[in-house]
Amino acid sequence: MSIPEKLERTRALDRPAGAARDAVQGVLTHRGVKDALHGVWLGHALHPSLAQFTLGSFLSASLLDLVGGQRRASSTLIAAGLAGTLPTVASGWADYSDAHEEQQRVGVVHAALNAAAVACYGGALVARARGGGGRALSAAGGALSGFSAYLGGHLAFRQALGPNQAEAVPHTGPGDWQPLGAAADVPDGRPVRRLAGDTPVVVVRSGGEVSVLADRCPHASAPMHDAELGEEGGCAVLTCPWHGSVFRVDDGSVVHGPATAPLPRFEHRTVDGVLQARVVTFPGVPAS
Ligand code: FES
Repeated sequence: MSIPEKLERTRALDRPAGAARDAVQGVLTHRGVKDALHGVWLGHALHPSLAQFTLGSFLSASLLDLVGGQRRASSTLIAAGLAGTLPTVASGWADYSDAHEEQQRVGVVHAALNAAAVACYGGALVARARGGGGRALSAAGGALSGFSAYLGGHLAFRQALGPNQAEAVPHTGPGDWQPLGAAADVPDGRPVRRLAGDTPVVVVRSGGEVSVLADRCPHASAPMHDAELGEEGGCAVLTCPWHGSVFRVDDGSVVHGPATAPLPRFEHRTVDGVLQARVVTFPGVPAS
């Protein structure tokens, strides 16, 4: 079993992980700020992009120090990494606050290693300001950052914290029309689950308008037929039952995170009283 897999199963981490989650949720109460940190405006998770910059700067500095490169260049890279630390950390904690238990166990260790790495790099700059070399601290920061990045990769690619969980739907959903039952049976104001071929969908009738969307939240796969139907900005919206992501009913676009990818939508029509649907591969481009 790998180290990240062991961390996933380490219940002793639940106390610090839970305390960190509660603290973040207590601080990140402004929805607009939280949406921005998740990357709703970007259309995908913000943290990995920022981490590339911060980690890349830090590790490049450590490499320069290791091979005896220019101290000034190394210090500039460390300063760039430190400048990127605050937004990187903030976006990471925002994602962490909506993560599940096993992800949070790994995430809290990832965060602790990053904090130690930042302290090392900051210490290296202080040492240099006092006339020292700071190379040992730079090397220690590199080792800590490298291992932390390994855990970050595990969080993203093994534990799927951040990816679009509904990405497969436009590719595996039915491209030909599938019956969803009698159109008259779709209740007004209450999302219902149907099958379009083998693909679960949620059917919503709101104000007389019918919409068909994937029954899988892009954030962490919650069943969207359990979502709450409401209204925001004059549009009908669905609020995910697990972490509160909000999607427009008419096109599936994200109104609020933590989801950053839209809810896949389906075209629909009614033939002889039967509601039919087929998946939309790209918005505005009907499936063939
Ligand atoms: S599963 Fe997390 S917001 Fe939907």
